[in-house]
Amino acid sequence: MSVRSGMSCACACRWMAFLSQNRDADAQTNRRWIMVDHARCCRAAPHRCSVTVGAAHAAPPPARTSAPFSTLPSRPPTSHPDLAAPRRATLFRAASSGMGVATNGSSSSTSESAETAQPQAYKFLIYGRTGWIGGLLGQLCAARGIPFAYGAGRLENRAQLEADIDEVAPTHVFNAAGVTGRPNVDWCETHRTETIRANVCGTLTLADVCRARGLVLINYATGCIFEYDAGHQLGTGIGFKEEDTPNFVGSFYSKTKAMVEELLKNYENVCTLRVRMPISSDLSNPRNFITKIARYDKVVDIPNSMTILDELLPISIEMAKRNLTGIWNFTNPGVVSHNEILEMYRDYIDPNFSWKNFTLEEQAKVIVAPRSNNELDCTKLKAEFPELLSIKDSLVRYVFKPNQKTSKA
Ligand SMILES: NC(=O)c1ccc[n+]([C@@H]2O[C@H](COP(=O)([O-])OP(=O)(O)OC[C@H]3O[C@@H](n4cnc5c(N)ncnc54)[C@H](OP(=O)(O)O)[C@@H]3O)[C@@H](O)[C@H]2O)c1
Repeated sequence: MSVRSGMSCACACRWMAFLSQNRDADAQTNRRWIMVDHARCCRAAPHRCSVTVGAAHAAPPPARTSAPFSTLPSRPPTSHPDLAAPRRATLFRAASSGMGVATNGSSSSTSESAETAQPQAYKFLIYGRTGWIGGLLGQLCAARGIPFAYGAGRLENRAQLEADIDEVAPTHVFNAAGVTGRPNVDWCETHRTETIRANVCGTLTLADVCRARGLVLINYATGCIFEYDAGHQLGTGIGFKEEDTPNFVGSFYSKTKAMVEELLKNYENVCTLRVRMPISSDLSNPRNFITKIARYDKVVDIPNSMTILDELLPISIEMAKRNLTGIWNFTNPGVVSHNEILEMYRDYIDPNFSWKNFTLEEQAKVIVAPRSNNELDCTKLKAEFPELLSIKDSLVRYVFKPNQKTSKA
């Protein structure tokens, strides 16, 4: 690295100060976080930046291929080459490695063409291969020609995570792994140590390993750590902000997620995405919130913030490219109620569909742990991604229109 004289970039000043004061064992890790700050600083005021690290100032964006998900307006990655450039000559591996780190399942012809077509700037290491969100994330990377590999390690096993990172040499790590309970989160009430092991010990271990390696971790967390309260009443449009303290600990799952979110605030390399009631365009998937409520005998009817994965998972990839960290309410702006979704389902999918409602008190008799209902304030995400659709518009565009079976216009 070289720092030119006459620098005006604030992060460069920090770097110089760091160089003169710190020669300890954490030097490499700390240096990387200064580089992240540097990338942000340069994005804010690129004309003022006079710091060079290596050759190029910004890594070229990787090729974008047709994708089943939304296509974000392209914005050049602002990540610093120290973080975004490949660390190995060959980033994409079509076959499983000797260490058991599964590479993506895309065809070798796709991977070869992606590799030879242009230099690859990114490689993602993803945890949660067999899970819903992790599976979708891998499909998305494959469709867009983004090199990725799934982590083989268990989250709570530090040595295995380190081995994955050694093997894959990722530019970014994504955590879509965790215990969610089967058939639902009630499972966590009776499997507390298993829940703690994965969701608390595991998530924290991964964050810590990534920090030590200078890697940004995109962590799919949950927004089910809030419930409507006096300051955030249902129907007022006042949502919980990123800095608000979780107020819902009704279920053991949510309680542990809230604890971890609090602890992760100390990790400057972690991007915490508060996902809620995720929905995808695959209406046959039993994990899909729409599919779930369409199959229930009775449903409550409460407006909630929700996450349309088809729109938001690509945004999470873009967030990695921008090296965004901190807490983010990761839902579409606004709220939608159970009945509003089921009315759309009837109008677009099945004109004969009908359903029955019941009250929260009646619902409490058929579940073990209470469920969270809330609205999250999406101002921060919308400011970073102005094209983000409201929840109702996103539902129509990404879910109901593509699946439409009726003649509704
Ligand atoms: N789905 C939702 O409603 C929802 C809502 C909000 C937030 N989220 C969060 O989003 C994340 C992903 O959710 P999802 O619905 O995709 O979950 P999922 O379908 O239940 O998948 C969970 C994944 O985590 C892996 N896993 C579990 N424990 C692990 C451990 N100790 N080490 C390594 N891998 C482990 C599982 O692999 P194995 O099968 O090998 O254990 C599986 O691949 C979770 O953190 C969840 O809390 C989900």
